[in-house]
Amino acid sequence: MELREGIQNAAFQEEEEDDDVFVTPGMENEYNQIKPYPGMPKEVLMLYSSKACYRIPREILFWLIIVCTLGLFAMTITIVVVSPRCMSWWQLTPVYQVYPRSFRDSNADGVGDLQGIKEKLSHFEYLNIKAIWISPFYKSPMRDFGYDVEDFQQIDPLFGTMEDFDDLLASMHDKGLKLIMDYIPNHTSDKHMWFQLSRNGTEPYKDYYIWVNCTADKPPNNWVSVFGNSSWEFDEMRQQCYFHQFLKEQPDLNFRNPRVIEEMTDIIHFWLKKGVDGFRMDAVKHMLEAAHLRNEPQVDPDQDPSTVDTEFELYHDYTYTQAGLHEILTNWRRELDKYSREPGRYRFMVTESYDYEEIDKTMRYYGTNYAKESDFPFNFYLLYLPDDLSGNQAKRLVDLWMSNMPKGKWPNWVVGNHDKPRIASSAGKEYVRAINMLLLTLPGTPTTYYGEEIGMVNVNVSVIQDPFGQHDPSNSRDPQRTPMQWSDDPNAGFSESVNGTWLDVAPDYSTVNVEIQQASADSTIGQYRALSLLRSSEMVLSRGWFCYIWSDTNVFAYLRELDGLSKGFLVVLNFGNNITTNLSWVRELPDTLTVRLSTESINQKAISKSSIPTSQGQGLLLEYSSSQRFHLSHQHECYVSEKACYLPALDILYKC
Ligand code: GLC
Repeated sequence: MELREGIQNAAFQEEEEDDDVFVTPGMENEYNQIKPYPGMPKEVLMLYSSKACYRIPREILFWLIIVCTLGLFAMTITIVVVSPRCMSWWQLTPVYQVYPRSFRDSNADGVGDLQGIKEKLSHFEYLNIKAIWISPFYKSPMRDFGYDVEDFQQIDPLFGTMEDFDDLLASMHDKGLKLIMDYIPNHTSDKHMWFQLSRNGTEPYKDYYIWVNCTADKPPNNWVSVFGNSSWEFDEMRQQCYFHQFLKEQPDLNFRNPRVIEEMTDIIHFWLKKGVDGFRMDAVKHMLEAAHLRNEPQVDPDQDPSTVDTEFELYHDYTYTQAGLHEILTNWRRELDKYSREPGRYRFMVTESYDYEEIDKTMRYYGTNYAKESDFPFNFYLLYLPDDLSGNQAKRLVDLWMSNMPKGKWPNWVVGNHDKPRIASSAGKEYVRAINMLLLTLPGTPTTYYGEEIGMVNVNVSVIQDPFGQHDPSNSRDPQRTPMQWSDDPNAGFSESVNGTWLDVAPDYSTVNVEIQQASADSTIGQYRALSLLRSSEMVLSRGWFCYIWSDTNVFAYLRELDGLSKGFLVVLNFGNNITTNLSWVRELPDTLTVRLSTESINQKAISKSSIPTSQGQGLLLEYSSSQRFHLSHQHECYVSEKACYLPALDILYKC
């Protein structure tokens, strides 16, 4: 069109008007007979191309392509902007802790091993669990059963060989299972080569540990070990004291020495290259201590200082959570990130730190807005539920985490591990199922210690093996570490050993075992499995809102809901006496709810919200349908880590 206004182009005008081709006078007949054909000379083709019948479709096509491209581009941007973040594997599955000495013994020596774990991979499939944390299996003199590492790049022969490890990892990955390793940065075994060379002053190992001048009978200060007594040990060879926050056979590494950081980072790389999916970082708060070595303040200033010999008698201002710790951990997180780029290969990091009432210290391991650290620090607070078992205590402990957790972070829940008594013994057998229901219906990642899915109990073993227990039998951790009860075969199907097992098998194994319980859907394991399956199939449980509904001395009740979805769940857990709960005031709930799971067999299929009966230790998972959302009018009682809404018409989630 511009041509009309500017340069005069006779040919163009003519073509527009006549819808015909401009040709040299006298040639009309010749050209009019020619039809377009492949390989036509450019000049002739140009004559045809400006004809309206060719030009208009061409222009239409051109603009159509532009519009489609822009449309696609806009759609892609919209999808990216409105899509909620995809959840990573460690958010979508419970984590199962295997204590390898006690899981399954494949070579009949009475101690569990890596091949044994491989034999039992189907157990995790059955439980619908995809992430397995295996407690240490590094080469170790086993003073602290593997938490005293002699070589971070070797497998202890008791557990197998490096080939066994590679084989286990490959088999796990084949089955879609992730392997989380224990990583123990604070200390090594005194048998580690670094310590041996440090003792005799060989460079560069001389300062790999914390050495201080002292005499055999006078430690440098009042610092005490977690396992009791002074944390200093005089070394005859070096004629100095070295520092140990745990056993004297577990000397603390000196993280003020950059070479130590480098060495420990290399170890992370070694295992990441092998393909492990993450690390549980042991005892991190102990990694640094103050260089000034001042005495720590006594909890009771009047106590005779010579009698102070346990962790709880001092304030650990100079030995726990020292400045610089989080920098080391964030740098390790960055190393993990380098291996996390492939889809589905995110490398996970969880830290272990018991901070008791100083929960802000635990939360700090989530990192900051600028520096990522743990995916989550272990949440040990539910371990205190049995101390004052009640609905109120359950709510208090859940809320302790939820109200202190930085916004947008991912919660997690631990109800047992190799250091703490089993649920059946601390809370009571009658509460195992309700506590498992709590664990699996709260928002976030649950961690299950082996055996909790069948309700194993603490066992009073005949010979104490745990060094902590040898120091003080009341602190022994052996009772919660006894062999997994697979069946009623000898040694509970854990081992074919004829010389016994490393710890006694629980006396109840012939009635409490995996095989027997798998035969019934109503068993502890059957219900665990049902909850685990439900957690992964119901979006509302994996990523919906979590709202407190009720708590009293007996009952703790909460609901899970998702915007856009009419289906919701109400969980009612009884940690006290038989009682009927009236929730008629909850407008957002329909009058009747459907029983989806009850830890005790009940006849009712539907329950009225005004009268919800629960007995001692009973857990009820009730399903309901409602168009009203509770969280909208109860903002302060509800949490969600990453808000997302459901669009039923398209069956998708979007950011809202
Ligand atoms: C952690 C472990 C514990 C071990 C200690 C020392 O707390 O869970 O079992 O004894 O670290 O490594």
